[in-house]
Amino acid sequence: LRHFLAIEGLGQALLTRILDTADSFIEVGERTIKKVPLLRGRTVVNLFFEPSTRTRSTFELAAKRLSADVLNLDIGTSATSKGESLSDTLLNLRAMASDMFVMRHSQSGAPHFVAQSVTPDVAIINAGDGRHEHPTQAMLDMLTIRQHMKTFSGLRVAIVGDVQHSRVARSQIRALNTLGVDEVRLIAPDTLLPHEPEALGARVFHRMEEGLRNVDVIIMLRLQHERMEGALLPSESEFYRMYGLTREKLAYANPGALVMHPGPINRGVEIESAVADGPQSVILGQVTNGIAVRMAVMSMSMGGQLNERQSGTGEGV
Ligand code: CP
Repeated sequence: LRHFLAIEGLGQALLTRILDTADSFIEVGERTIKKVPLLRGRTVVNLFFEPSTRTRSTFELAAKRLSADVLNLDIGTSATSKGESLSDTLLNLRAMASDMFVMRHSQSGAPHFVAQSVTPDVAIINAGDGRHEHPTQAMLDMLTIRQHMKTFSGLRVAIVGDVQHSRVARSQIRALNTLGVDEVRLIAPDTLLPHEPEALGARVFHRMEEGLRNVDVIIMLRLQHERMEGALLPSESEFYRMYGLTREKLAYANPGALVMHPGPINRGVEIESAVADGPQSVILGQVTNGIAVRMAVMSMSMGGQLNERQSGTGEGV
């Protein structure tokens, strides 16, 4: 039994093994995902304390493709609305012989707290915690990049927009650097950057024209209003004018640069429709890859393969 809580602390060998395992679930030459019996007899509980379309649905599909039984707890109609604590809710779900909790929560560190102190004998998969990490999103993004670019070596990747409030960006920066890209760039105004962005392992740009030059992959982020807490921000129209990915700005990047977005996208705010739906966009391919990556993480978790210490780094989950 192993948890999957963050990209931070994981080595290149383990991240590569997750990508290889995900690849093994994709039918060769197809967009379909195999059904396998790896989690037959196991029970997976989806616990989403924040809204989700892509992550919750693809975790459910992934668990079903692994032949697990899946329970989607509807938080809105659960006893949490009658004052039951998170710990008591989880202890009751564990009493139903659950093997795995897939958890999204607004509080950074909530899945770690559960894994360490509430139900350490249930595998915890982090489906996004506060501003901290969204590790399976980063891994499906890495799978998408590898499918199109074949290698991470030599790539320049730009992450654009609201990095400050983005758990996705934190996981992506860690995964990209661990997998050996040439450079990670952040393009944003100071108000949408973390306090010490270079400490994350990224080079900062404030203008699209400079930041997108010679870039192979562009990852757009939405403005995450739900985590902003009154920050001083540009208006949506001002943001679009400066940082929205239009066809004109896309031309600054290398020809054929991949356009990515974790979703949900806000057309006309961070991305032009013609770009989101254009030939360089792999946004819907990212969603498809979410099933295979989540199958990989869940099956490796149940097989105990997520806790191998990484040779040379002494790190594990
Ligand atoms: N990318 C992502 O986490 O999307 P959802 O919020 O729809 O799950």
